[in-house]
Amino acid sequence: MRRPPPLPLAALCLLALPAAVAAYFGLTGREALTPFPGLGPATAPLQSRAHLKQCDLLKLSRKQKQLCRREPGLAETLYDAVHLGVLECQAQFRHERWNCSLEGRTALLKRGFKETAFLYAVSSAALTHALARACSAGRMERCTCDDSPDLENRQAWQWGVCGDNLKYSTKFLSNFLGPKKGSKDLRARMDAHNTNMGIKAVRNGLKTTCKCHGVSGSCAVRTCWKQLSPFRETGQLLKLRYDSAVKVSSTTNEALGRLELWAPPRSSRPAKGTAPRPGDLVYIDDSPSFCRPGKYSPGTAGRACSREASCDSLCCGRGYNTQSRLVAFSCHCHVQWCCYVECQQCVQEELAYTCKQ
Ligand SMILES: *[C@@H]1O[C@H](CO)[C@@H](O)[C@H](O)[C@H]1NC(C)=O
Repeated sequence: MRRPPPLPLAALCLLALPAAVAAYFGLTGREALTPFPGLGPATAPLQSRAHLKQCDLLKLSRKQKQLCRREPGLAETLYDAVHLGVLECQAQFRHERWNCSLEGRTALLKRGFKETAFLYAVSSAALTHALARACSAGRMERCTCDDSPDLENRQAWQWGVCGDNLKYSTKFLSNFLGPKKGSKDLRARMDAHNTNMGIKAVRNGLKTTCKCHGVSGSCAVRTCWKQLSPFRETGQLLKLRYDSAVKVSSTTNEALGRLELWAPPRSSRPAKGTAPRPGDLVYIDDSPSFCRPGKYSPGTAGRACSREASCDSLCCGRGYNTQSRLVAFSCHCHVQWCCYVECQQCVQEELAYTCKQ
């Protein structure tokens, strides 16, 4: 299926659309991986004073490059964000047929699969998270701690506890990922929805943590600050939303004169169809099986699987190879007088399973 053609220009002019955040900021499978620590051959640690150079290494639009150059510390945070997003995606999909590999990523990003939806959401979530943390960690010049003007936080500030600055991070992001001009088709709507969903997922994980001070725990003084959940929790939430992603089509809202996402009725609702919920991941194209090597993925041949849990589905019914290997470990340990432990080396056979061609 091809992407639907964009709306005619006349229609676009009529619409005063709310600014939608829609750009993808993650690996596309096209970039040289060297600047990304841990993803390519090791490089020297990035130096903050060299941030202009770092901005040039990143694949950025003109506006993004300007923003990057203006803010020392941003380039490094952008690297962190991309890295965080990639690792989380790979961790969440390690047992799936599509394992978030970079092979086929470029083709995959052109389509509107559930996997594309996840990539948009995880990349915007990672960017939101990394930025909010960079602010509170003092790595940025233009933002510091969360400065919500409530009393608790002013106390927190006095006590020197620095909250993760989600407010700055969200604001920055809508500017940084800004609306793409002229693309208000169904696919652009999908991307915007999923990008915003990723940002929301991080926001939902923001917790207020408090600490009591005072004589014998009297809590006479309370320090509170805002803290983000570990990104792993956000990744888990996004993976759950991927599992229950909603296929959408478009409908023209006559009253507002604009294209809107339309989700088929959920069983419990009147059979009319509704807008997808803000917390849903949405997609428009059905995914391939990812079983065989193809345009979108390298297939599952050679993937390690667990015989009890995943081999059947992961290997797509082709079966799996079993390999045994010997693993050494310490055994028959005795405590010797006085103070050391003496062990023997034992070997044990371990079985490893991999999907057949
Ligand atoms: C994904 O699977 C392919 C084989 O299909 C493998 O080569 C690759 O290393 C895997 N990637 C990750 C991140 O696990």
